[in-house]
Amino acid sequence: FTVAVLISGTGSNLRALLDAASAPDYPARIVAVGADREAEGLAHAEAFGIPSFLVPYEEYATREAWGQALVENLAVWQPDLVVLSGLMRLLPPAVVEAWAPRIINTHPAYLPEFPGAHGVRDALAAGVFQTGASVIVVDTGVDTGPILAQERVVVLPGDDESTLHERIKPVERRLLIDVVRRIAAGEIDLTAAHPSP
Ligand code: GRF
Repeated sequence: FTVAVLISGTGSNLRALLDAASAPDYPARIVAVGADREAEGLAHAEAFGIPSFLVPYEEYATREAWGQALVENLAVWQPDLVVLSGLMRLLPPAVVEAWAPRIINTHPAYLPEFPGAHGVRDALAAGVFQTGASVIVVDTGVDTGPILAQERVVVLPGDDESTLHERIKPVERRLLIDVVRRIAAGEIDLTAAHPSP
């Protein structure tokens, strides 16, 4: 069972997945890592000897053209599953349609609470005492797909975006590693989440 991971940032979730997938009994293999910018996280792929590809967003005239290049890169690897892990870009509908439902995303909030690019900041601004981490199936909405796993994370007095996000990420990593394992092992049937039209 093969997985491609798409990132934009430090790739700490990717790093955790690479670690987990290097265990002989883990049922999934990471075969490629893609990024929409020169993400630091690409260094993790290199360290693990995993091929990576770069599809720089600003080099494309439109989101759709960028998405098409992303699909062409993913087609090279034909992964069984695409994982968005810190990809800070909304995928154009054509990309989601090409891969749904075999495409999942991690989000640092307890969806449907606080969707979008600033889930941690929005939770703090809302003054909630607990937020969370979620793993969902990607659909053409913004963090609106079926929830595969989620867990509550407390907000502590004095938290800022960084301290709260760093408390959320370990939970996110654990949920992501477990969800990918369960999908690879056939314990989660993503197609069931999308009854055939
Ligand atoms: C993660 O919390 C992810 O859910 C969010 O951005 C963060 C990326 O962190 N979209 P990293 O790049 O995996 O360290």
